[in-house]
Amino acid sequence: MASSMIISFALLACTLYLINGTSSTQLTPKFYSQSCPKVFEVVQSVVHAAVAKERRMGASLLRLHFHDCFVNEEETPKPPTFPPPTSSLNNLTTTFQAVGLSTNEMVALTGAHNIGKAQCINFRVRVYNESNIDPLFAVIRQSHCPPSTGSGDNNLAPLDVRTPARFDNLYYKNLIRQQGLLHSDQQLHSGGSTDSLMEQYGREPVSFKIDFAAAIVKMGDIRPLTGADGEIRRNCRVVNS
Ligand code: HEM
Ligand SMILES: *[C@@H]1O[C@H](CO)[C@@H](O)[C@H](O)[C@H]1NC(C)=O
Ligand SMILES: *[C@@H]1O[C@H](CO)[C@@H](O)[C@H](O)[C@H]1NC(C)=O
Repeated sequence: MASSMIISFALLACTLYLINGTSSTQLTPKFYSQSCPKVFEVVQSVVHAAVAKERRMGASLLRLHFHDCFVNEEETPKPPTFPPPTSSLNNLTTTFQAVGLSTNEMVALTGAHNIGKAQCINFRVRVYNESNIDPLFAVIRQSHCPPSTGSGDNNLAPLDVRTPARFDNLYYKNLIRQQGLLHSDQQLHSGGSTDSLMEQYGREPVSFKIDFAAAIVKMGDIRPLTGADGEIRRNCRVVNS
């Protein structure tokens, strides 16, 4: 997780050095080797300090990286509609395939949901009205997520019921027990084609970590905009007008 995050943050941390840097139309991990040779150490220490100060920052940065990579999928200047949490397995597969990520890579990447939190508005229907959910788990999550729309919409619950702040593979074990918080997560273990890989990652933490690392690097390479392509948004939710 740390390395791709650090690469993303290299762009922020070394903005000033870019003034003296050369422009390039190819992405290269050595881009800052002359202008900012300590970029990785600098970024790593800034990220460590931020996470030490506010634990959830790790999850926030990881999610930011995901949304950064899928951002060009927005056709209109509206708030991002990434795959919504109501997506079916087919919808999810299609969304990832559209950016060149396989179903297996998608299964590995959603393992990111082993840290961080979701708002009640994104899991209300699941914990009240879905049947492929562990009943005790549903009741626990209902207790901080009132049933009617508009009340407690922003109340938070951890995505990983077991180790909410540790980066591990328990997310997969939760889903095998129907303890996924998001509808979309539970879709990945609901009698379909992805069940077996979910079970493998639940059994084999090392195979999850290896595949996650490879997939997240690939995700970072989705249609990179270089040179004069693209823009730095004034408001990150909309294309500059
Ligand atoms: C499969 C498609 C995906 C869907 C439908 C999805 C949806 C969501 C939703 C609804 C939330 C909760 C947001 C909230 O309530 O505020 C969330 C949180 C999160 N997502 Fe995803 N996500 C997906 C894939 C990914 C991927 C590929 C990554 C990273 C590799 C990722 C990283 C995260 C993280 C770390 C959080 C927690 C953020 C926090 O605590 O602030 N997600 N996601
Ligand atoms: C999900 O797939 C269904 C059936 O193909 C389609 O009608 C629907 O628009 C899709 N939803 C999203 C959010 O892509
Ligand atoms: C659950 O389903 C019932 C019956 O369709 C509906 O009236 C209710 O609003 C739903 N509740 C939630 C939280 O989705």
